[in-house]
Amino acid sequence: MAVSSYENSAEASSMVRLVMDLRKNIEGKHVLLVEDIVDTGRTMQFLSELLRARKPRSVKTCALVRKPDRAAVDAEVDYLGFEIPDVWVVGYGLDFGEGDRTLPYIAAMKADP
Ligand code: IMP
Repeated sequence: MAVSSYENSAEASSMVRLVMDLRKNIEGKHVLLVEDIVDTGRTMQFLSELLRARKPRSVKTCALVRKPDRAAVDAEVDYLGFEIPDVWVVGYGLDFGEGDRTLPYIAAMKADP
């Protein structure tokens, strides 16, 4: 699946939009939703609700990283790698404007001096 976030000026909050859907029917299946990082939690919550509406047998969620200080919604993560403070991180698949995604470690971005 692919999703993107965008700002909703009417509600002054960010919204999640489905860009690419699953090709398979998940009714009656056990589903594991794997996210790289949970920031506000909106992406995880959006996907979790979307998938649960399709009547799978179960839905569990997994994320490598979570930023608890940024949580805007209650997005449950069943299997979590670790938590970090409110910093932007790159590497290991995480990007900043498509850059630094292939770093073989996770690094925190520093603001320009
Ligand atoms: P959320 O919907 O606010 O939880 O944002 C989740 C999505 O934002 C992730 O799937 C990432 O694509 C992106 N994201 C949030 N924080 C970071 C970060 O620190 N580094 C890279 N991507 C991030």
